[in-house]
Order: sequence, then C-alpha cells, then structure tokens
Amino acid sequence: MLLATLLLLLLLPLPEPWSAHGHPLYMRLPPSTLQVLSAQGTQALQAAQRSALWALKRVAMELQLRLHECRGPGHPRPQVPLLQDPPEPGPCGERQPGPANVTRAHGRIMGGSVAPPGAWPWLVRLQLGGQPLCGGVLVAASWVLTAAHCFVGASNELLWTVVLAEGPQGEPAEEVPVNRILPHPKFDPQTFQSDLALVQLWTPVSPAGAARPVCLPQASPEPPAGTPCAIAGWGALFEDGPEAEAVREARVPLLSPDTCQRALGPGLRPSSMLCAGYLAGGIDSCQGDSGGPLTCSEPGPRPKEVLFGVTSWGDGCGEPGKPGVYTRVAVFKDWLQEQMSAAPSTREPSCRELLAGEPSEEYPADVDLLCAFYARRCLVPEGACARLARQQCLQRRRRCGGSQPIPRPRRAALAGAHAAGPAAGRAGAARRAPRAAARGPGPGPPRCPGLEPLRQKLAALQGSHAWILQVPSERLAMHFQEVLADLSSKTLTGLFRAWVRAGLGGRRVAFSSLVGLEPATLAQSLPRLLVQALQAFRSAALAEGKPSGLEVGRKGTVSGLQPPREPTAPRS
Ligand code: ARG
Repeated sequence: MLLATLLLLLLLPLPEPWSAHGHPLYMRLPPSTLQVLSAQGTQALQAAQRSALWALKRVAMELQLRLHECRGPGHPRPQVPLLQDPPEPGPCGERQPGPANVTRAHGRIMGGSVAPPGAWPWLVRLQLGGQPLCGGVLVAASWVLTAAHCFVGASNELLWTVVLAEGPQGEPAEEVPVNRILPHPKFDPQTFQSDLALVQLWTPVSPAGAARPVCLPQASPEPPAGTPCAIAGWGALFEDGPEAEAVREARVPLLSPDTCQRALGPGLRPSSMLCAGYLAGGIDSCQGDSGGPLTCSEPGPRPKEVLFGVTSWGDGCGEPGKPGVYTRVAVFKDWLQEQMSAAPSTREPSCRELLAGEPSEEYPADVDLLCAFYARRCLVPEGACARLARQQCLQRRRRCGGSQPIPRPRRAALAGAHAAGPAAGRAGAARRAPRAAARGPGPGPPRCPGLEPLRQKLAALQGSHAWILQVPSERLAMHFQEVLADLSSKTLTGLFRAWVRAGLGGRRVAFSSLVGLEPATLAQSLPRLLVQALQAFRSAALAEGKPSGLEVGRKGTVSGLQPPREPTAPRS
C-alpha cells in the first residue's frame, strides 16, 4: 500500500512555486498530493482507533475474567456481557444432517410443513412478557437479528426474552433474557424500510446447546431470482389463523425486483426489501413469522445456510399475486458488523446491565465499567467530569427502575476495608463499606487481588485513548488542506520547512513540518507528516479537554507554532 502511494507520489505533478516579484518564496503542494496525504492519514487514524479499541477490550476482558475467577466456580458465566462477541469466524449455517426431506418444494399452504426438531438451529422466538410475538435469527453467540417492527411500542428490553431453538432430540429450548435492543436507526414504521433490529442476549448461547448461528451474507452476491430459499417460524397457519404449535417451514423462490414491484406496488422498495413466494399464492410466511429467517443454501463441500432475508411484511398471507416481503440483509451487513463488534465503552449501558450491579453484590466492578461509557470523554478518572458522568449514569439507572444507589467506586470500598481494622469497629465499617467488610475483619488482602490494578489500567487507557475513541467513525477522516513550503529554508537533506493545515472531524490543526519538493524527497517526508498530524490532533484533543491551559480550539493553533505570513500575491 505504502509502496503504491510512493509510486503515485512519484507520478504526481510537481508543485507550482509561488513567486513574489519574480522570486519564488513559498510553494503549495498541489491538491492531488494533498488527496494522497489525506487518504493515508485517514487510514492511519482508522488504525489508531482500531488499536485503541483493542487495547481497551483486552484489559476489559482481563478484568472480566479476574472478576469471574473471584466470584468462584459457583458463578456460571459472567452475568454482564461487557465484552461483545464479534460474529465468530467459526462454523455458521450448518444444519444437522438429520432426517432428510425437511423442506419440500410444495408443502402445505401458508405454514408449509412441520419442521423436524432441531432443523433450524438459528431460529429463535421473541417473547414479550412471556407471549411469543416474533421470530428471530441467531447470528452470533450473543446476537439475534429480527424485524424492527416487533418492538414498536414495546422497546423496553427488560420485558423481552428469547427462546432458543430446541435440540434435534427435542431437548427443551432455553429462554434467555434480552440485554439490549438495537433497532436500525433508519427503520420507518410507516414504510417498513430498514425493518431490522439486533437483539443482544444477556448471556451468550452455550456451545454445548443446540442453538447455532446462521451465516450472514458476506461478499458473495445475492442468489438470483428463482433460487429456492427457506422460510421458517411459528407464525399463523393462515391469515388471522391460530399460531403454529411447532416450527413450520417452507421453500419459497426468490422473485426478481421487477416482479416484486409489479406485484406489490411502490410500497416495495427493492433497494432494501426482497420478495419471495409463489404468485399463484398458497405458500407464504404469515403473522407471527416476522423477524424469522429467509435462508438460501450456499453450495459447497459443506453447504451453508446464509441469511438473505428477514421476514417483514405482506399483503395478507399467501394471497395470489402477493408474495411475502423480507428485509434484504446483505444491504445492512456493514451496520450489523459495526453494531456487533462495537467496544463496550462506546455503548450506553442497557437497563438490564445497570440494574444487575446491585450494591449487595460482592464485586460490582461491572457497574464502574458500565458507567465508563458516560466518562469516555473525561481525560482523568477522577475529577469533575468523572463525577458528572457518574451522576448521568445514576440518573439513567433510576429511569430504568433502579432505586438503589450505584455503589461507590471500588477504590473507596477498599480504602474502607483497610481502615476498618478490629479497632475501627465492625458496625461502622460495615455501614461504610459493606462489601469490604464482608471480607472479614482486619486489613488483610482483598479477596480479589489484582482487580483494582486492572480497573486503574482500564481507566488510564480510557483517558489516554479518549482523543481517538471520541471521534465518531463517520467523521474518522483526515483532510490535509494545505502544505505550504518555505523555499528559503532548504535543509542539508533537501527538505523545506513547511506549514501544514489539516482537519479531522470538525477539529482543525496546524503544525510545522519538513517536506521534500522533489518526488523522491516528498515521498520520504510523507510518513513524518502523517505522524505529526496524528500527534497534533492528539494534543489538540487533550488540550481542548483541559479546563485551563493551552488554548487550542476548533480553529486553534498548536502551541508554539505560528504560521508563516501568508505570502502576498505578486502585483503586476
Ligand atoms: N408482519 C408479519 C409479522 O409481524 C409478517 C407478515 C408476513 N406476511 C406475509 N404475507 N409474508 O409477523
């Protein structure tokens, strides 16, 4: 990549000197070079953000494990899914070889035919207050994809549970609480555009169970019209009919966008919806199937089922000329990846997470970790900003229905424990630091050694990486606006002092650097320029976050560097 850039630079036109009274004084790098620089800078920024996220994630994971160890073997799994699992590269979309003939091309109408147990290991049922409302599809250990319209008027995650697939031998299905509901931000309840939502499970599915994720479409194109794909669910057997007792399945061919549009009119937006079924009517998904899968099998030595559609809407069920409509999953694959792999600290904690860390719990470090979201812009772990963040966290917790105060930060509790020797009186110590007191009298070592340093490390990392973590991904681009070289400043190595102006997500920086003006020296000076730009953004962000100190603002300049005077245009 770098080589390609260097080659490109060699081919770039040389900058035009800026002359005054016939004497060249300054030279601006041409826009084409600035563009190359900007592209490189953007890549460097993205890499910086990725590595910051990974650093945080690693420490958060260590912390989680430590916590888990301290809680002892009695504690089955970490209760708070602080670490989101990105969609595993492991196997997906594999069906049990099981009793063949699971889907016939012409099953019974509407509901198709009853699926053998375990036939659709990724099919889940979403229940609101114990009532099945929608289908869903397991796409990763902790993530279910479903239709956003299922949550209209019912977005409180505390009320939802997910019933996982039963096993091939009819092993009972597990019911898991929902931790978080993420409807697609562009979901429109009027048009059903972007009818997708990700649901995060409170605990990931166990590899020992029957539930398995389906494959999400990757680079491969959607299968062509006519491909027989599969739908499954517990939906109604016919319009306004009863819900199915068992999972039903059917094969439906994909229809071309033209056919869909002709059949369903302008309500069908081919850019984000696809339709499938029989124009003769009969076989179709129906009420209650929403959110369920439309999968097509990808041939190969081990055929895989890939999720191309999520059941969304229809005009009646199985009516002639009215095929069923499915959200086109492939169109949303970037959004899906982004949501599922987002770092925990970039997500507002869910109500379930906030309410889980009750003060009576022995090690409520989770709460501090969760509240880290609100403190992500704070530069230091203590201080006014962090206190405010904690308040915000507390407020949100109250809105979620939590009446108990959020426990004090761990450090305070530990301090309490150490101060509370036998002489300090147990009752007082217990009141001030009940969790610490639970460790027994005397200063003794805390029962979870190594936890506190990890928490400090996490807070420090959050502080030091705040500058890059707080840039929203859509603004993560570096834009070199100007590189102005002073022609009178040539160094022994053939470089010139230059004044550089660049922008990043609304923040502008300016700094001085050295650039070459020959193709070869210009290429050489590129890496330095990029590093300096990154450093300038970092110090600008840090300075901006400080209550006092360097005045580096959106239009500000970086300390100690003043731009050379803008050369006045030559007069004729
Ligand atoms: N909207 C329905 C639901 O909420 C799914 C309808 C599918 N209809 C159809 N004819 N394919 O369950």
